[in-house]
Amino acid sequence: MGDTPDSGSYPDAPRILHPPPGPRSRELLAQQAKYETDAVSYSHYFPIAIESARGATVEDVDGNRFIDWVAGISVLNLGHRHPRLVAALEAQSRKVWHALELPTEARVEFLKELEASLPGSLRHHARIFFTVTGGDAVETAVQLADHATQRHGTVTFSGAYHGVHGGAIRLTSGRRYHQTSPFAGGVVVRVPYPDPYRPILGSDQGAAGTIEYLEHLINDPSSGVDSMSAVLVEPILGEGGYVVPPDDFLPSLREFCDRHGILLIADEVQTGLGRTGKMWAVEHSGVTPDIMCIAKTIGGGIPVSVVAYRDDLVKELPRGFHIGTYRGNPLALAVGTEVLKVLREGDLLARTLRRGQRTQERFRDIGVRHPSIGNVRGKGFMIGVEFVQDPKTRAPWGDRAKAMRSALFARGVLMHTAGAWDQVLRFMSPLVIEDELLERGLQAFEDAIETLDTSGNVPAAHHGKAPTGVTGFHPSVSPELGLPTPASPSGPHLTEPSE
Ligand SMILES: Cc1ncc(COP(=O)(O)O)c(C=O)c1O
Repeated sequence: MGDTPDSGSYPDAPRILHPPPGPRSRELLAQQAKYETDAVSYSHYFPIAIESARGATVEDVDGNRFIDWVAGISVLNLGHRHPRLVAALEAQSRKVWHALELPTEARVEFLKELEASLPGSLRHHARIFFTVTGGDAVETAVQLADHATQRHGTVTFSGAYHGVHGGAIRLTSGRRYHQTSPFAGGVVVRVPYPDPYRPILGSDQGAAGTIEYLEHLINDPSSGVDSMSAVLVEPILGEGGYVVPPDDFLPSLREFCDRHGILLIADEVQTGLGRTGKMWAVEHSGVTPDIMCIAKTIGGGIPVSVVAYRDDLVKELPRGFHIGTYRGNPLALAVGTEVLKVLREGDLLARTLRRGQRTQERFRDIGVRHPSIGNVRGKGFMIGVEFVQDPKTRAPWGDRAKAMRSALFARGVLMHTAGAWDQVLRFMSPLVIEDELLERGLQAFEDAIETLDTSGNVPAAHHGKAPTGVTGFHPSVSPELGLPTPASPSGPHLTEPSE
């Protein structure tokens, strides 16, 4: 595609020497299964043991080499073991590994670099909280919003994923912790995310219907919503299926929040740090949030996360408002500074926008020949390919997306699903993938779908079941949940989690 970066990937990927899982992988998987909880997820989707990784590729213990379009779920935007990150890590490892919250050069350097990288009016006007995971950052952001507004009530959207580890403060007994870390356990106001492909509240026409609904929640005294402190939003839905909202969504949300003195929290955990072809996804719409959650790529694979908030948001926070042993690990911060520098220097972001556009066109082009691809959308290297049983009814086809994941795996390409019915395959390659490998991955995708189309992998409708979806939607009742759910061929189930 003429934009070749050199990330040092294994140049001969995909290379399958032993159909995965090969013998050595099987052995290590069996040992893992013997000792570790069976609640792990990814080793079921991609049953290989990893030997090493370079750039946009990984090698398993049987010598198979895979193109990695999972990228640690957006942790590896700069690929595996980027040479500049390796150098920063090595240098810091000779100084100090753990320093609680005491200043180190690594910490102060990181803070300066991050401040200079933030979007809009947050740039040079933010305060930073260090946290460890994405979920931790989101929880801290909500806690901060409740404290700043002295209200409870977080608006969050259908399809949202913000993590799973809340509630520890309620289990901790010290009164002093309850006073300084007043996490209320979350009062959640759920609102439909405006999805143009599966429209609700007129979301195929823009965000007006969603905003009207939010206004109703505020203005109608019997709406059931007593108060709101913040709107928490993913600029593009991640686990929810790589849904790109209408262009006016974030600007309208910003106006709504300003009208009512509500804070806007952007969860950039999956969308941030170049993934969408801008440093932050909010920059596509020029909206600046009051609070922003950052994780994943910021540590290049070493766990660290951050909450950035407007420096005039709160006068003073009680000391220990949010505490924890591992906040701002020096090794992670040394890597993080380099992550930010690499993303800000050169033209990696502009190149990601260009190459992302071309990659979307390639998926769309494949979709013309394969009607099971109902929709292709995204920004930069965050692209969702949605599978449907029938383009007219748009009934989600999770089994096809999962069959594609397996078919790609067998061909040496790692690609994961998303969406409520696992009906979306998501392209989240490291941004640094070489053009040649990108092209080989796309060819494997095309080959996989051709093979499935000719091999009898057919929608439920062809088995005599009526396809269901949003248009012509015929809900059936899930016996497990007692809730109406589309009769996806794989049956009702919860979305597979991401870490
Ligand atoms: C948008 C978003 N927020 C929060 C999280 C939770 O992050 P973590 O798994 O690090 O807790 C995720 C994880 O995928 C995410 O995609």
